[in-house]
Amino acid sequence: MNVLVTGYQGYIGTHLVDLLKKNNHHVVGVDVGLFDGCAWEDYTQPDVIIRKDIRQLHISDFKGIDCVMHLAAISNDPMGDLNENITYSINREGSIELAKMAKKAGVSRFLFSSSCSIYGKSSKPDMVESDPTVPITAYAISKIACEQAISQLADSNFCPVFLRNATAYGHSPNLRIDLVVNNLLACAISRGDIRIMSDGSPWRPLVHCKDIARAFVAFLTAPTHDIYNKIVNIGGNSQNFQVKDVGNLVQKLVPNAKIVYTGEAGPDSRDYKVNFDLLKQILPNFELEYTLESGMKELFQKYLSYNFKVSDFESEQFVRLRTLKKRLYLIENN
Ligand SMILES: NC(=O)c1ccc[n+]([C@@H]2O[C@H](COP(=O)([O-])OP(=O)(O)OC[C@H]3O[C@@H](n4cnc5c(N)ncnc54)[C@H](O)[C@@H]3O)[C@@H](O)[C@H]2O)c1
Repeated sequence: MNVLVTGYQGYIGTHLVDLLKKNNHHVVGVDVGLFDGCAWEDYTQPDVIIRKDIRQLHISDFKGIDCVMHLAAISNDPMGDLNENITYSINREGSIELAKMAKKAGVSRFLFSSSCSIYGKSSKPDMVESDPTVPITAYAISKIACEQAISQLADSNFCPVFLRNATAYGHSPNLRIDLVVNNLLACAISRGDIRIMSDGSPWRPLVHCKDIARAFVAFLTAPTHDIYNKIVNIGGNSQNFQVKDVGNLVQKLVPNAKIVYTGEAGPDSRDYKVNFDLLKQILPNFELEYTLESGMKELFQKYLSYNFKVSDFESEQFVRLRTLKKRLYLIENN
């Protein structure tokens, strides 16, 4: 199939392009290059590259495309807070326009990368797709707005699907260390401590970034009537963890590292457990390849062979917020 992937150079996108190509799909990659030069490994290139802001795409860019996988975004709460207007412009307005253009161009399937973080501080232990969401940040508000607006476009020729991904972790050619698991492990290896920015009690659903990419590939070929206009949580029921569990697993890998609970309330009050039964129901053959433990072991080995140091832990290469601050000019005046 002909697949257009936005955000193909990102943490998840680099896995996704590789998997799509391994499955013999033709891939068009769109990215503005916010994290150019940040990858720590080479990654598979798409067949065609469109180096553009998603807000600059033309209908002709979608010619012959069967499915759009839309991942490009300012991709988490702190980055979204850096400049809320840009976040709304790209993540909300830009994404909705992109979906409209794809539909107009005759694209029949649109897979949107949403997030479980919209559950915010959950009111009950097992959040399902129909539960009320508590979007507080510009990032989360944008994700919900897209789900709502793009679902209105669904018709017999256009099938949108909303993949509400758990928080990602694990190795990718373009690593992010702002994500909790990657961060705690990197901190332990490079600084010798495991700094948990809370009392460790908040719950998070976690999923390997490659498993998110695998889910996108599975939704590409799933029968339309099984997935039509559905919102689906992406992760596994056994993969909800308290942050302190993550800290303990890190300590198993780096026994000399000390766990430090900073106890900060911080701006991030997210605390939610998520139910993933619908994913199992819709794609019964889809299994996660990784558990948190196996994914952490793999990343641990990668950090060791890279000789990951304090200077890396603080570098623009791995700390996304720093790079983004310097490269805002790429997306500011669009
Ligand atoms: N990583 C997670 O934990 C997670 C969890 C849930 C949902 N998601 C969603 O999945 C998607 C991908 O996440 P990621 O972790 O790979 O993010 P990422 O930041 O690593 O990658 C995003 C990519 O999009 C590109 N991009 C950003 N704005 C653009 C624009 N205006 N035009 C063209 N390209 C642009 C960037 O250059 C980057 O390569 C995002 O939509 C994110 O919100 C991620």
